[in-house]
Amino acid sequence: MNDITLTDKDEATLLHAMSATGIFVTCGLETPNIMVTHWGMFGELWGRQVFSLPVRSTKFSYRIIKETKSFALNVPARDMRTEISLCDTISGFKVNKFETLNLHPKRARSIDAYILGECGLIVEYKVVAIIPPENIEKQVDDLFISARPHTVFVGEAVDAYRLK
Ligand SMILES: Cc1cc2nc3c(=O)[nH]c(=O)nc-3n(C[C@H](O)[C@H](O)[C@H](O)COP(=O)(O)O)c2cc1C
Repeated sequence: MNDITLTDKDEATLLHAMSATGIFVTCGLETPNIMVTHWGMFGELWGRQVFSLPVRSTKFSYRIIKETKSFALNVPARDMRTEISLCDTISGFKVNKFETLNLHPKRARSIDAYILGECGLIVEYKVVAIIPPENIEKQVDDLFISARPHTVFVGEAVDAYRLK
């Protein structure tokens, strides 16, 4: 178990960016990729500091996170709404998004992935649990709004720092 303490300011920055614009999620070393999320659960679970990241199984990021069992949250340090919306329209199956979006990869400190040099707060996670949608006992019929619901990757924070 790791003892990573995020300050109240870090938590507020992360949660605000997630709901305001979305944040970048980076993953993979040999096949580095970037996705965006504005969904996710941040807090303590099973005595660990966790972030639960929902990813559809159709995404390239799903494949990478399942393999590398890690991901990083990258919180923009400036207005990156253009990059966020572009990131949504292109897939890592077809292109290297770092190159296509002219974003600068930096080696993550504690996981096998890159992070975004353009961002401020970075939090690195190791996956401690994977919750596939078929294992979720739905109590309401319309819980999933899509035919391809998300798998939830529960990550434990293993490193947190600011680039800017
Ligand atoms: C604001 C925003 C929030 C998003 N949230 C999620 C999410 O929670 N889970 C997810 O799987 N995709 C989400 N997406 C879509 C992915 O970021 C997008 O499809 C990405 O390009 C996936 O690429 P990949 O196939 O290369 O992994 C979101 C996109 C945007 C713009």
